[in-house]
Amino acid sequence: MEKVKVIIDGREFEALKDTPVLQVAHENGVYIPHLCHNEEISNSGGSCRVCLVEAHQGGRMRMVTSCNYPVRKGLEIKTDTEFVHKIRKGVLELLLARTPDAEAIQKLAAAEGITEPRFKKDEGEDNRYKCIACSLCTQVCEDVVGVSAISMQNRGGDKKPGTPFKKPATTCIGCGACAYACPTGAISLKEKDGVRRIWQQDFPMIRCSVCDRPYIPEKQVEWIVKTTGKERSFFDKCPDHR
Ligand code: SF4
Ligand code: FES
Repeated sequence: MEKVKVIIDGREFEALKDTPVLQVAHENGVYIPHLCHNEEISNSGGSCRVCLVEAHQGGRMRMVTSCNYPVRKGLEIKTDTEFVHKIRKGVLELLLARTPDAEAIQKLAAAEGITEPRFKKDEGEDNRYKCIACSLCTQVCEDVVGVSAISMQNRGGDKKPGTPFKKPATTCIGCGACAYACPTGAISLKEKDGVRRIWQQDFPMIRCSVCDRPYIPEKQVEWIVKTTGKERSFFDKCPDHR
């Protein structure tokens, strides 16, 4: 694989050609705010625009989303200019207007000096909803877990994940990967008395034979046993007591 030199905020780094700018920056200790990108999920990113930076090449400057912009020879990236902060602030004000309850966005906005968004809060039916329609949840469900229990539904400002016909999905195994991947905490996952509730379904959980803690849904275990051939008895104990 070809290596290239890239300049980020005045410092020169070497990286494999086509590695995303965000990854190169983070590997070298340069923080770029981001929301919809997750390194574990292929093709994630590109929708929230929080990670916008200046890309200078061949005498031209473009604003690019660093999570999916590849490093090339002669590329210079600026993450901390007045213009970058102005654009990032505008992006965060819009996100905050859509999802005023999302703590992750509140924190990023506060870091840019936003306490009150310039744009009026969305007063629609879902005005307290935290989803930014990034699709990370549906990607993890399809690409990582392999069950496709949820999909993105509706359009425009109403776009959000859901189960088919808003009914409990028969394919859902209650693993909660969607909730863990969600950058804004928009997916409700609750556990009580050994039962996990997610996507309008209750999933009884297996208890660890040592500490008695309910730690994994029975249906998730059935899925893992079926798809990987792992012994069912492997799940008798939680990860802490194996
Ligand atoms: S629920 Fe979370 S992960 Fe799914 S689209 Fe909305 S913000 Fe993204
Ligand atoms: S993190 Fe890059 S567009 Fe969302």
